[in-house]
Amino acid sequence: GRVAVVMGGSSAEREVSLDSGRNVLAALRSRGVDAHAIDGIPALLDALRAGHFARVFNILHGQHGGGEDGVLQGALESLNVPYTGSGVLGSALSMDKVRSKRVWMSLGLPTPTFVALPRGADAQTVHAAARQIGFPLIVKPACEGSSVGVTRVFAEADLDRAVELAARYPGDLLMEMLIEGDEMTVGILGRQVLPSIHIVPKGVFYDYNAKYVAEDTQYLCPGLQGAAEDELRALALAAFDALGCYGWGRVDVMRDRQGRNWLLEVNTAPGMTSHSLVPKAAKAAGLDYEDVCWRVLETSFR
Ligand code: DAL
Ligand code: MG
Repeated sequence: GRVAVVMGGSSAEREVSLDSGRNVLAALRSRGVDAHAIDGIPALLDALRAGHFARVFNILHGQHGGGEDGVLQGALESLNVPYTGSGVLGSALSMDKVRSKRVWMSLGLPTPTFVALPRGADAQTVHAAARQIGFPLIVKPACEGSSVGVTRVFAEADLDRAVELAARYPGDLLMEMLIEGDEMTVGILGRQVLPSIHIVPKGVFYDYNAKYVAEDTQYLCPGLQGAAEDELRALALAAFDALGCYGWGRVDVMRDRQGRNWLLEVNTAPGMTSHSLVPKAAKAAGLDYEDVCWRVLETSFR
């Protein structure tokens, strides 16, 4: 049947999603899939009610009009329409970094020390939280992707600006101990855990620019060798399972200078742009971009 590739939407990651979606659409079509682009959840629901599509390939990133926070998944469940990736619970939990971390901590899985800050927390609360964690630290919106609103803070003088930036996005704020070391990520495709990637940005960290614009970000894949690689992949899968995720996704991890891994977050509709990570990891496992899209589509066959 016809496949709706839902992309765009109204989240802060709209442009990234359109880029991912156009690539996915072309790849599915090249494999003979009758795939069509749909922009955002309202248009998708209209098309589904009109009976235009048999299944949904979800490549909407982010929350609030993105398709990564469980809202889309709930709507599709209620319409009984099959879709790619995680369900309501895994999507909603993964979108919320604070609650993801609480689940991991309860299971003894390593994640950086943090304080959750409600929106509009007063300066005294913010500064007390920062002193509790210590500098350097990182301030993020709890429920965003692509590093939007994220600031690394090395001194108390820079704290207020970081909080103000993160507060431009919906939801609570997360203040987290900054792990200095290597940025690692592990893609999961069906039940296959892909080789890790060690991301080496040319700037200070893997921010929005390094993710989607810069051509000089380096990617080492596999990121580690031997037992260290196996350990990282096992941790990523455990973190993914812990949040009730399935289908496909990507687990972001910091590896500190002592070689310890720290879980940052799970992405349940990870980027599929030409710069994105899952396609790179899949390539190292012998899968081309079209294969990845097909394998993701297969996660809706359940
Ligand atoms: N949130 C972006 C799309 C990613 O994780 O790839
Ligand atoms: Mg993310």
